[in-house]
Amino acid sequence: MRLDNAILESELSERPFLAIILAAGKGTRMKSNLPKVLHHIGGQALLAHVIALTTQSGASKLGVVIGPDMANVGQEATNNFASAMLFTQEAQKGTADAVLAARDLLQGFEGDVAVLYGDTPLITKDTIDAMRQKLAAGADVCVIGFEADEPGGYGRLLTGEEGELIAIREAKDASPDELKTTLCNSGVMGFRGERLLEILDQIGNDNASGEYYLTDAVEIARAKGLDAATVTCSEREVLGVNSRAQLAEADALFQAKMRADAMDAGVTLIAPETVYFSYDTKLGRDVIVEPNVFFGKGVTIEDGALIKAFSHFESVHIGQSAVIGPYARLRPGTDIKNGGKVGNFVEIKNAVVEEGAKVNHLTYVGDAHIGAGANIGAGTITCNYDGFNKHRTVIGRGAFIGSNSALVAPVKIGDGAFVGSGSVITKDVEADALAVARGTQDVRPGWAAKFRAIMSRSKRKAS
Ligand code: UD1
Ligand code: CA
Repeated sequence: MRLDNAILESELSERPFLAIILAAGKGTRMKSNLPKVLHHIGGQALLAHVIALTTQSGASKLGVVIGPDMANVGQEATNNFASAMLFTQEAQKGTADAVLAARDLLQGFEGDVAVLYGDTPLITKDTIDAMRQKLAAGADVCVIGFEADEPGGYGRLLTGEEGELIAIREAKDASPDELKTTLCNSGVMGFRGERLLEILDQIGNDNASGEYYLTDAVEIARAKGLDAATVTCSEREVLGVNSRAQLAEADALFQAKMRADAMDAGVTLIAPETVYFSYDTKLGRDVIVEPNVFFGKGVTIEDGALIKAFSHFESVHIGQSAVIGPYARLRPGTDIKNGGKVGNFVEIKNAVVEEGAKVNHLTYVGDAHIGAGANIGAGTITCNYDGFNKHRTVIGRGAFIGSNSALVAPVKIGDGAFVGSGSVITKDVEADALAVARGTQDVRPGWAAKFRAIMSRSKRKAS
């Protein structure tokens, strides 16, 4: 069985594969200034998820159909697939009209064509492969269907006596009997490229919506004596995002998958449902993540690290067996090397913390390099910004920064140097030196006792 799949997989990779993503819809129900497909789940735009799927599935050509005034959607497409071709559909006249906007890309293409929706981000490569395998086996059209809990407004897959696909009927055009069908159209369809344009050109708009339905392709193909097939997947995979509530639903499904994958790969999530992942979060083996942790984009955590509760990460690298949090905020450009420790209420940005260094309490480290084994006391602040420019702080190996010190950058603390607590350090400190930069302590023996005596005498007089 494995062998068969492997053969099919290699066969698929030899078939030219072109994907068209429909993304011209404004997404009115999102009530947003942003086109729908630019809303994020798991740290990236819906459209980027769909593009990633096409790339994983081996598409070598991509067309993205956008609406007028959607340069930002086009930009997102080319950021994720450099050679993507953009097509503008001037007016939304239906899904078939949208595909036809990409006519120049389809003309003369021989191979598999997949039509996907930019607002349907959770389809898996396995499902796309299954669809392409039907095309490889001779189908001219293949529709991805699903059994719907509530078929409602979905198009229905109408099948014949042997289960063969005869037509797709849009809900608005369906008879009461047809509406009873629970096998629905996900919207994702595959076509043999050689026949696609002639089919599309025959699609009319004589229906309840007055739209050019891509779904009519099935009946037209059948009338030509061509083969139409279906593959099915779960309803969750083909959840389309039309509202903020569905955006949250899609994200929840995406998060569930990321958490399950992380645990499969040997990560302990103590309360999985409270950990938020981005699409590219990488957690090593034996990483432990306590409850309520947020992983923004670009996070890699190496084996054996412990991530304590309520920590927040964006574009950071955490080395092996490091201990982070609780309540740490690690911002872009942070690199904590193996065995580093970052404690509670510590913010770090654009800084390297070398092996075994500790930044344990209530500290801000920005634009800095902290040497191996250094110890940064509670309340230390690197003053990296003078209102105009950012400056660097360099702290040497094994240096010790006393609590509540301000290090005014640019400044260097040498290897093994000590900084006395409460210092405001404005000049470089040489290796192994002690620097103290604070008011000198003035002690007056007996002063407090005298003061109390004077005060209590004057109080007695007054009463
Ligand atoms: C479509 C299918 C329906 C299926 C459902 C699944 C058709 C005719 N119907 O219906 O069978 O069950 O999806 O969700 O295909 N779009 C454009 N330009 C257009 C029209 C649509 O780019 O002119 C894009 C939209 O942005 C969207 C996608 O195509 O991403 C689907 O369009 P939508 O209007 O939501 O189709 P449905 O009516 O939901
Ligand atoms: Ca829809």
